[in-house]
Formats: sequence, C-alpha cells, structure tokens
Amino acid sequence: MSDSEFFLLLLPFLSALYWILNLCRSRNPSLNLPPGKMGLPFIGETIGYLKPYSATTIGEFMEHHVSRYGKIFKSNLFGEPTIVSADAGFNKFILQNEGRLFECSYPRSIGGILGKWSMLVLVGDMHRDMRVISLNFLSHARLRTHLLNEVEKHALLVLRSWRENCPFSAQDEAKRSRATILKFIEEKMNERLERMKSDENENEEDDLLSWVLKHSNLSTEQILDLILSLLFAGHETSSVSISLAIFFLQDCPSALEKLQEEHLMITRAKEQSAEKELNWEDYKKMEFTQCVINETLRLGNVVRFLHRKALKDVHYEGYDIPCGWKVLPVIAAVHLDASLFEQPHLFNPWRWQQPIVDWIRNKRFRDHPMTLDMRMLVLVNGSNRGGVSSSSASTSSNNFMPFGGGLRLCAGSELAKLEMAIFLHHLVLNFTWELADSDQAFAYPFVDFPKGLPIQVRPFHS
Ligand code: HEM
Repeated sequence: MSDSEFFLLLLPFLSALYWILNLCRSRNPSLNLPPGKMGLPFIGETIGYLKPYSATTIGEFMEHHVSRYGKIFKSNLFGEPTIVSADAGFNKFILQNEGRLFECSYPRSIGGILGKWSMLVLVGDMHRDMRVISLNFLSHARLRTHLLNEVEKHALLVLRSWRENCPFSAQDEAKRSRATILKFIEEKMNERLERMKSDENENEEDDLLSWVLKHSNLSTEQILDLILSLLFAGHETSSVSISLAIFFLQDCPSALEKLQEEHLMITRAKEQSAEKELNWEDYKKMEFTQCVINETLRLGNVVRFLHRKALKDVHYEGYDIPCGWKVLPVIAAVHLDASLFEQPHLFNPWRWQQPIVDWIRNKRFRDHPMTLDMRMLVLVNGSNRGGVSSSSASTSSNNFMPFGGGLRLCAGSELAKLEMAIFLHHLVLNFTWELADSDQAFAYPFVDFPKGLPIQVRPFHS
C-alpha cells in the first residue's frame, strides 16, 4: 500500500477524531461558549446556512438563529466548529485584531483556484508585502490620473452598445464592462512583457506590473497570483454592485430623479469648458451618487460574511472563543439590523445624506476644503437622521463595513466606488430603463440575479 493510499484510508478516522475532539470542547463546562447548536456530525448546520435567500434579507437561518440565540452564536459550519457574529462591535473587534487574535481563513478551495500566493489566502509578512504592492497600484493618485479616464472610457464603450427596446441582461452588461477593463490590463501586460524582452522598458509607467517588477523581488508565480487575486476580488463584486444599483434605482423613481439632477448639473457645468471627459473635480461633486452607492452596498451586501479563525483562546463580552475555531463576522446582518438602520429593507439613499448637509451648514467647516474621502468619513462616522434613534448609531464605522476593515480592508474600495459612480453618471444621463422580466437578487451566498436582471432600455434622445 502506497503512502497516499494509506493516508486516504486514514482520513475518515482523523476527521472523525477531530470532530469528536471539537464536540467535547464545545461541551466543556469550564468554557462559556456562546449559545447555539452544533447540528449534524461533520456537516453541522452548513446546509441551512448556505440555503439561498433574498439578498436584501439575512435569510431564514440567520433570522432564526439570531432571534433564538442572540447576535453571537456557535454552530458547526463548513466542517468546523464556528462562532457566527451578527454583532457590529464584535465584527469590528475581529477585524481590528487580524494577525493578533484572529486570522483570515478562507476555504482551501480558494487557494486552489487563486494560487498559494493569492492575497486572500496569505497571512503575515507575505500578505503585508502583497498588500502594499496592491495599494500602490490602486492609490488615490493613480485613481485621479489614470484610472478615472480608463473607467470612463470603458463605461462608455458598454453603454454605447446598448440598443433601444432590446431587452438584455444588465448583469451580463455589467460583467462585460468589467471584462473590457480586464482585457485592457491584459493587453498592457502583454505589451510590457514584449517590451521587456527587447529592453525598451526604461521609462515605463508605474502600473502594477512595472511596480512589481521594479520594486519587489516576487517570482513570476507570485506576480501572477497577485494579479489573479486582484482580478478575482474586484471582478464579480463591482459588476454585481452596478447591477444592484440598476435594480434598486428602477424601483425608486425619486432617487433616480435626484441622481439625474446631480449628473445633469455636472454636465451643464462642463458645457462651459472645452473638456469633455470627467475629471476628479466632477467626481467630487457626485455627493448624492455616493449616497446611492452606500445604500446599494448596505442593502445589497455583495460580500455577506468573512472567513476568520481564532489564533488563540479569546474572551469577548463574557464568551470564550476557543483557539482554532472558525469565526464568521456576518457584515450583512449588521447592515440589515433594524436596531441600527431604520426600515433596513428599504432602499433609502437619503439616510446617508444628512451628515453632508450638516457638514455644509456647519460654519466651522464652511470654508474648509474637504476631499470627497474626508466627506465620506464624516458621512460614515457622523450623525444620521435617516437612521434609527440616536445620532451616530447607524452610520458609525462599526455599522457599515461593506469593504471589511482592519488590515484587510478592501484594497479596491475606492476604485469600486469610482467605477459605480462613473457608470451611473453616463447611465442616468442617457437612458431610462425598466425590468423586462421580474427578477431579484439572491444570496447563494455570493449575490446573483437568477435571470441575469433583464432590462429594457430607452435612450433619452428618442
Ligand atoms: C463593490 C465592490 C467590492 C466590494 C463590496 C469588496 C469587498 C471586499 C471585502 C469585504 C474585503 C475583505 C475580505 C476579508 O477581510 O476577508 C475585500 C478585500 C479585497 N478586495 Fe475588495 N471589494 C470590492 C471591489 C474590489 C475591487 C474593484 C478590487 C481590486 C481591483 C478589490 C480588491 C480587493 C483585495 C485585493 C482584497 C484583499 C485585501 C487584503 O487581504 O488585504 N476589491 N473586498
């Protein structure tokens, strides 16, 4: 018998042993584990947890478990003993303690697809190095100088191909929009490699590939895995977010009207100047658009939960979280929590608006030049009258984390928002649209429209 055959034979016994050990641990009376149940052997409660549900809800499993056990409960998911959190404070605690008490821990299949050097599976120093490279590539300066123009060019390419009264899948179109951007990157990469071969890369621009080649000693395999993880992390997320915005807006005419007004004002102001393309100043004026984007991300929850594991025994609010247990911060559950957001299932971009109005009215800030980022910070951290109860309850950064947080905060969050805003700008200025067939977003748990969100568009000039 070969070693691998012997190992395969042993595997079920080892898994059974692991499960029994964890079961004993979960019943250890000296530990104060959160309430909950471990479900069936091995599969635990995974099937119930992954059962598809409407993306604008938290699903039956979470609803049932939160109402029965509270916002922090134990379970057995993905074959491992797990602590599930729908608690804003605990979610933040988990993300802020990355590398100290908790660590990113995605299922092995992710590493298999994206490669062992992918940022989503790396931890420690190697993750930090890869992250620095990505953040440089997606920096604020590059967004202003390079990426804004590219995003606009490719958004226009997609929108110009739309035909009147021809129903199509908005989701496919959104993916196509992303695909054209990706194709552009791929072409650039091939050109660069060609030029490198012929030693013509002396004055190369600082894009991801150049930056990696110049400023790191990553191997080819590491470079490819890094690029692949950026593409993976940014591809579906952005296209689904744009589809969600299209979906929510067609059902909320008042928000659409307000959005159109904002973008009309921007184009009218541009008519005075010779410049046709959008620039950073125009982007900064898209304040209501940012509210629409925030609300789309809050209600649509493209990324619903994150995968972590406890690096050591952790005590939180009287509960014990044993070392090695899986920990799932469910960010969607916080975004849809009725105690934090008033009428959480309603698409209401105005709930994000009040802090900006307060900021403009506030004499202290009137003459202070704030960047869009600073304003969004006010928006996320400041007071919110659209939300529930007291001042900063719903908009505190604990309660709104569509891009995660801590050391693993999404590296492409600013690019994603830029893509959404530019696409919406040209969409609302040029088209009206309606659903060609009823459809709605589902969480599988990845968010998708079962019918691909079929819409019928009508250009304004017709
Ligand atoms: C609306 C669109 C997007 C959403 C909702 C989103 C959400 C997230 C979330 C929640 C995380 C944290 C994962 C974790 O902590 O385990 C993350 C990480 C990441 N995102 Fe995004 N993302 C979006 C778009 C993008 C784009 C456009 C890019 C790049 C082009 C990107 C690149 C990344 C990368 C590289 C990471 C890993 C960061 C790290 O581990 O340090 N994302 N994203």
